[in-house]
Amino acid sequence: TSRVPVVQELARQGLNYLPKRFVSVNHNDPIESSTVQHVSTTLPIINVAKLRSGSEPDEGRVEELAKLASVVKEWGLFLVTEHGIGSDILNGVKDVVKGFFGLSFQEKKQCVGSYVSVDNMGYGRNFVKSEDQPLDWIDRLTIKAAPAPKGGVKELNVWPQRPPNFRQVIENYVEEARNVLDELLIALAEALALESHVFLKHFDSNNSEINVRINYYPPCPRPDLALGITPHTDASALTLLMQFETTGGLQILKDRKWLTVPWTDDALLVNVGDLLEIMSNGRLKSPWHRVVTQMNVERFSAALFYNPPSRAEIEPEPIEDLVPEDGGFKKVVVSDYLQHSYAISPTKEKQAILYA
Ligand code: SIN
Ligand code: FE2
Repeated sequence: TSRVPVVQELARQGLNYLPKRFVSVNHNDPIESSTVQHVSTTLPIINVAKLRSGSEPDEGRVEELAKLASVVKEWGLFLVTEHGIGSDILNGVKDVVKGFFGLSFQEKKQCVGSYVSVDNMGYGRNFVKSEDQPLDWIDRLTIKAAPAPKGGVKELNVWPQRPPNFRQVIENYVEEARNVLDELLIALAEALALESHVFLKHFDSNNSEINVRINYYPPCPRPDLALGITPHTDASALTLLMQFETTGGLQILKDRKWLTVPWTDDALLVNVGDLLEIMSNGRLKSPWHRVVTQMNVERFSAALFYNPPSRAEIEPEPIEDLVPEDGGFKKVVVSDYLQHSYAISPTKEKQAILYA
């Protein structure tokens, strides 16, 4: 595999076998290898318009908040509709992403700046920590979309130059998404019966960090052996996920089973990340998820990671009757936490928790 720089090029060769480095599913592990794709039909969809106060009778809002509370506590993620991000904006994102991935490998490399010394940023295969780590069947393009660079230093939000409107389109999407996520942070606090700004207070529109990660999963010759992304939790506060087609692929670990998330056409998916789990002192949980591969099917998704400013200190929201021995969460500095979580594959410690 060292001859092929990215998975897309490998897949283009029309392989009918899976190169060894990509074999990651352990068939001796009943959870990992479960070939049935358990489809959940019980993931309620949250209507964001109903969460906006004033636009609906309060009854509707109260009901939607209760629904949000129950779904987020049970799953750690939820689908949203009527979020207000126009389909022109969403389709624009799909177009520029497909335009970029339609370029040749050389063209892609040439039109994206490099992110020397920043793990898992820029264009290419997933960052690997060690030589013997299985590779994920994915190529990605990760961009630091906010905050804007402060001049002087050669900053790290390096945008692809092609298609020429790539940056403009993604930045428009990011600003719309930021508004929706801010509203959801308020709704989530209220859903937990906390003061409405306990989560949002950690963010600020000039300095909050937003990374956009475009995921491309080429058709895979052996979906039974390879994963698109190995199990992980997101380090972010919130992640907003957009899937380009309804081909499925994202799975969430629940009751020791991998369940395929039932995604509908124009819904977006929101998932709780580690930083929100910390802010909430464990009231919300950052769910374990992975992406499976598919034969003869390619899949795109765009993940937007929403984080407080990198130097912010997150003090977990106290829980009144928490016994001190139970610990609760410790204070973290956002950049410190993100730094050691950037590699997407879980540490042994996390893996132990996962399959305990
Ligand atoms: C991710 O977990 O970062 C990607 C999820 C997806 O592609 O649906
Ligand atoms: Fe993720």
